[in-house]
Amino acid sequence: MTLASPVLYVVICGASNAAGSYDFIADTIDDGWRVCAITTPMGARFVDVAHLADLTGHPVRSAYKNPADPDVLPRADACVVAPASFNTVNKLANGICDTLAAGVVCEAIGDRTPIIVAPWLNRALAGHGAYARSIACLRAEGVCVVLTEQTRPDRPRHDPGGSFPWAAVLAEVRGLPAARAGKVTGPPISR
Ligand SMILES: Cc1cc2nc3c(=O)[nH]c(=O)nc-3n(C[C@H](O)[C@H](O)[C@H](O)COP(=O)(O)O)c2cc1C
Repeated sequence: MTLASPVLYVVICGASNAAGSYDFIADTIDDGWRVCAITTPMGARFVDVAHLADLTGHPVRSAYKNPADPDVLPRADACVVAPASFNTVNKLANGICDTLAAGVVCEAIGDRTPIIVAPWLNRALAGHGAYARSIACLRAEGVCVVLTEQTRPDRPRHDPGGSFPWAAVLAEVRGLPAARAGKVTGPPISR
């Protein structure tokens, strides 16, 4: 990993499996990405923030900066939201930017930065109509949504459990244009 490496934002929500992001991030760093971890405020309770900062070499941001503060993160070439909570999935689909994490991803949707969203939630939430609409909306915006039997919105009362699809998310990251072509960064945007 060098300053010329493509930049991957890994956005971590307040959901089960958040600590699985450590191995996933290590794998993406091994692949040559420069990784910045961003958590939602709730997500920060699910991970060891100091460990993530050590792992990535970047501060872990959970809140918007103060207006006069400098940008501390490089611009992203791609974003992963994993695990994505029900709450944040619905925010992203509806353009709600009340956390730094949601704001960064909403901006990325708007400027067509490649995004991979992997939700994790229970079947009761997966059966809520807002979730199905949000998945459809994100896909219509060009977002890659990684689902499992547990997180599909179309299986009422079906409860297969299973594990978080880190391997499938990593496979999607490995297929991204920046992973194949190298650095494509531009000037930082304000965050
Ligand atoms: C122990 C615990 C586990 C949770 N697991 C999940 C989960 O797997 N998926 C989910 O959508 N919400 C889960 N929640 C609820 C979310 O943390 C809550 O909806 C929160 O508002 C999400 O905020 P965020 O989207 O900003 O991260 C969990 C909450 C707790 C306390």
